[in-house]
Amino acid sequence: MKAKLPEKHLVSGYELRRGDYDLLFAETARLKKLLRDGKAYKPLRQKTLGMIFDKHSTRTRVSFEVGMYQLGGQALFLSGRDTQIGRGETIADTARIMSRYVDGVMIRTYSQQSVEEFARFSTVPVINALTDLLHPCQILSDLFTITEKLGVYEGLKIAYVGDGNNVANSWIIAASHLPFHLDLACPEGYDPDQTILAKARQEAPVGIEIHRDPLKAVRDADVVYTDVWVSMGQEEEREVKMKRFRGYQVNRKLIKEAKKTAIVMHCLPAHRGEEITAEIIDGPRSVVFDQAENRLHAQKALLELLLG
Ligand code: CP
Ligand code: NVA
Repeated sequence: MKAKLPEKHLVSGYELRRGDYDLLFAETARLKKLLRDGKAYKPLRQKTLGMIFDKHSTRTRVSFEVGMYQLGGQALFLSGRDTQIGRGETIADTARIMSRYVDGVMIRTYSQQSVEEFARFSTVPVINALTDLLHPCQILSDLFTITEKLGVYEGLKIAYVGDGNNVANSWIIAASHLPFHLDLACPEGYDPDQTILAKARQEAPVGIEIHRDPLKAVRDADVVYTDVWVSMGQEEEREVKMKRFRGYQVNRKLIKEAKKTAIVMHCLPAHRGEEITAEIIDGPRSVVFDQAENRLHAQKALLELLLG
């Protein structure tokens, strides 16, 4: 694979344009097939990915670590708490030092500014693996899954129901560069980030709409997507949110509004009985486990293109 992405880092998702997504998805499909066929492909021999985690993770940690291994490299798990960052060493110094040891850094933390600051001082690629604001790697896997299941993303209606959180913001950034309709339904006071939304509305090739009524957002949708109502770090808001989000559950009644062929997606972890019913997430339209698997393949393509 000789092709490259135009930017060194993936810190926001703004780095990627349509051609970059299509390149990543073609490589994702190729790597997925190689793995299925039992063929080894190790373009990242001798390469190490440093993985800094300040928040919990199952999918992101395992898929990045296994992905590096499968590509011939290795991954280092670093809990923020155990490094000197946890004792106040600056992000700038940490970035400069880690750049001397590893070939790429993946960060899951609270503040988006921290990831951006790390990238400014890092001489190796930096990947955002979730902040309070964004989750760009998730959207790569999601869009790839959509192309696998529905053939294309172009022209589709994607409905996001629930909290205007990091995943919703990353969907909006993707919609600002790709030709699909994005309809979000969020309770008042829980809209996505206004700056991201305003920028996307100027740039989006198709259209982004915010609804209060989830039935309207989901009407004739090709994809119905949801995420938890209480994200990591918001635990104390739980009681209030449970009340405010009632009516935004992805359930049988809501799904009836979508196209008959619509697929149901969730970035996981899921809370059955809250943002989605067990019947729907475990039902025939749900693609959540393929979606989770594709984190591995999509991030391998990303790692290869950034670190290779
Ligand atoms: N979807 C996702 O990022 O899952 P983890 O929190 O388990 O990494
Ligand atoms: N919005 C969720 C996504 C988890 C992958 C969170 O931030 O907790």
